[in-house]
Amino acid sequence: MSETHTRVCSQILRTVVIVVIVCLAIPLASGQNAKPNLTGNWAVKTPRNDGTFSKVYFDLKQDGTKITGTIRSTQFYYQISESTGDADGFTVTGSMKDGGSTRTVKYEGKLVGDELHLSTRRRPEDKPTESIAKRVPDGEGALPAKLPLPTLHKVPYNGLAKTPPMGWNSWNQFKSRVSDELVRGVADAIATNGMKEAGYVYINIDDTWEGEQRDAQGNITTNSKFPDMKALADYVHSKGLKLGIYTSPGPNTCAGYEGSYGHEDQDARTFAAWGIDYVKYDWCGARTLYTNEEMPAVYQKFGDALQKTGRPIVYSLCQYGNLEVWKWGADVGGNLWRTTGDISDRWDSMTRIGFGQNDHAPFATIGHWNDPDMMEVGNGGMTADEYKTHMALWSILAAPLLAGNDVRNMTQATKDILLNREVIAIDQDKGGMQGKRVWQSGEQEIWVRDLAGGDKAVGVFNRGAAAADITLKWADLGFKNKVKQVKDLWEHKDIKVDTAEYKVTVPSHGAAFFRVGK
Ligand code: GLA
Repeated sequence: MSETHTRVCSQILRTVVIVVIVCLAIPLASGQNAKPNLTGNWAVKTPRNDGTFSKVYFDLKQDGTKITGTIRSTQFYYQISESTGDADGFTVTGSMKDGGSTRTVKYEGKLVGDELHLSTRRRPEDKPTESIAKRVPDGEGALPAKLPLPTLHKVPYNGLAKTPPMGWNSWNQFKSRVSDELVRGVADAIATNGMKEAGYVYINIDDTWEGEQRDAQGNITTNSKFPDMKALADYVHSKGLKLGIYTSPGPNTCAGYEGSYGHEDQDARTFAAWGIDYVKYDWCGARTLYTNEEMPAVYQKFGDALQKTGRPIVYSLCQYGNLEVWKWGADVGGNLWRTTGDISDRWDSMTRIGFGQNDHAPFATIGHWNDPDMMEVGNGGMTADEYKTHMALWSILAAPLLAGNDVRNMTQATKDILLNREVIAIDQDKGGMQGKRVWQSGEQEIWVRDLAGGDKAVGVFNRGAAAADITLKWADLGFKNKVKQVKDLWEHKDIKVDTAEYKVTVPSHGAAFFRVGK
């Protein structure tokens, strides 16, 4: 090999080495081959069928294998408290304080291109729900600042709901399927099927009517299911009925729609201008900003807002019985307050709620009612005897009677229960006194409600799996040894009783129901 040849070869080799070094160095310096980072604001936006989106935000900061930040999902706002992994595969666990307890949520994910592919499960045994988050501008979906609350004062009684409100509510049966068309259909049905005459007058729209965004003036809007709320209210009023609506003191409702947070006065004015007669105010997203101890001030703020409108509007508090709401619900202007979590169309749910109301009895007064939640009668999850127990119990409890079924299409058995005028008369008794349990033996219970004028309603309940004979001893139920009149409210029969005791056979899960005169 000649010297020239060797020089040329080593020259070429040097050049190749330099090219390779430069090729490797440039992308490294510009970060192209650096591991991708999850830092940023991400959102999963899922269109609903009403022009709105369900949104989940992930505001993430990744530092090595530590991911911090927040997750905002419908009404919940979590701080990320634990994480594993990185862009190739990670988990984040968010937690938040909710009253006295802690809620958590866990997502698994990985970065694919510039998308986060995520999966989560409600409960460990559930199938995972998959979703894809995309980058959104910083600040979008951030939790608003906490607004100061008013000092407490007593909101005067609005003079409404002298007897427990009666009507219909969309949630139990229809959930997000509520629409203008449905509400009109329900109003038509109630105006003509005997319900209106029986006292069912409030047609209440629950969650999922709200629009995606407030308008330029900050007014709350409706979504595509409700083209014109004022026109709908006019229609309902033209039938001799009243219209109710739903909102939350939080930034979001329970279903993740727009809430009234920071717009309380404005929304109350909007509702009044639409012609709304009843508002259910559901805690939901307020839990992200306020503690349970702050509930009275939060509810007072909206109680005042409703009264300032000058329109008579029934005020329904929905915060699931927290902070012993029965002790302060009336002071913040409430006409009724939920005493428990949500009912479902099942015997165990209905009875756990209904038979758990005994201690609240002293707090029900004219214009201010304990609300053990809306009715499930006719929704199909219980037997006719179980629904009779539901209706009799709610009437003894002086509970609001808000039908939660499809009243456009009811079986005779459902009508016989919901339209039983003598049972409704117990619920609507002018005395406004809530009944109490007076006797219990195993799975059998007797509840008595004192009525205006001295009669008593007597509910005889059999929670057991087999029919049971139950003996009423008048003296033990607050009567003299003998009673004058006994009316069987389900059988519509006067019963001749001239003895100190009366034996009744009650079917499994059934209720005998009597009006008894002294
Ligand atoms: C809460 C309430 C329910 C219903 C839903 C709507 O769960 O307790 O009665 O209003 O929100 O999202």
